[in-house]
Amino acid sequence: MVTATRLAPFTRTRRTRRTDTLRALVRETRLDPSQFVYPIFVTHGQGIRQEISSMPGQYQMSVDMLAGEVTELRDLGVRAVLLFGLPAAKDAQGTEAYADDGIVQQAIRELKRLDPGLVTIADICLCEYTDHGHCGILTATGEVDNDPSLDLLSRMAVSTARAGADVIAPSDMMDGRVGAIREALDSAGYVTTPIMAYSAKYASAFYGPFREAAGSTPQFGDRRGYQMDPANGLEALREVEADIEESADIVMVKPALAYLDVIRTVRDRTDLPLAAYNVSGEYAMVKAAANNGWLDERRIVLEILTSIARSGAGIIITYHAKDAARWLREDRR
Ligand code: PBG
Repeated sequence: MVTATRLAPFTRTRRTRRTDTLRALVRETRLDPSQFVYPIFVTHGQGIRQEISSMPGQYQMSVDMLAGEVTELRDLGVRAVLLFGLPAAKDAQGTEAYADDGIVQQAIRELKRLDPGLVTIADICLCEYTDHGHCGILTATGEVDNDPSLDLLSRMAVSTARAGADVIAPSDMMDGRVGAIREALDSAGYVTTPIMAYSAKYASAFYGPFREAAGSTPQFGDRRGYQMDPANGLEALREVEADIEESADIVMVKPALAYLDVIRTVRDRTDLPLAAYNVSGEYAMVKAAANNGWLDERRIVLEILTSIARSGAGIIITYHAKDAARWLREDRR
């Protein structure tokens, strides 16, 4: 190591921070809209674009309103969407989740018609579709029944793949779901459809606004029996390993901000593409503070997304996707 005899007036690190262009030259992490995934909530009906009160700037929308969305996303360079559905009716088995004319299936067909290059990702979970709001079906005593749930989740995966989904993203946290879904996709002929597994998905209070948006709050109990305990980091590695063994193509950590250490550890342990989900509560906190004038939304959002990327996530699922893409474009000018 070379020791400087004299550091003044600049230390070595300050020398490379002097100008915008020098800072850009030595920058380690760069954001690009092509790494963002934008979540969309679709609902039955026509002409519906209903703002979600706890997520200002996010909407539940009907299928006919997707065209505007697609144009905007393409223009901004955001090329992937994650779909959530609000069914016409809920029941104990979550029937609409795996109906070929279900709301998400309709939305995927429309999106692929409007923009074949747009990556459509189907979130696979029953909680939006069941009347009890749990992510699987229940036993007689009200426990989530793992294996029978796998059959329904697999049916949902095949049904969304048939509608044209480019990626299947199981978020239910049942044991063995990635393997079961892979088998079902393969035997239905969808051998080329990748699985993005919500591998380390924590039982988090940060999902609060999403449950309002998707109407998926559990009617009794909570999800701690199947989602992970926030205190556990090593267990995240076991979850990721299990999903990789079951042939996940992309793994995910969710939420992002309170779990940056988990993102980093997973990044260091696997060479698969890694996604992080910057969830609804993380978005809502920023919006609430920004709307009060308490912080600078643009700088905060880009700092947050940069931190998620720096911690090792190459794919970032975020409700800020469109704003961030716009700001990145402005910065480039
Ligand atoms: C479905 C699902 C949830 C989220 C994504 N998929 C909710 C949950 O597990 O309760 C949360 C996304 C967010 O908060 O933005 N299981």
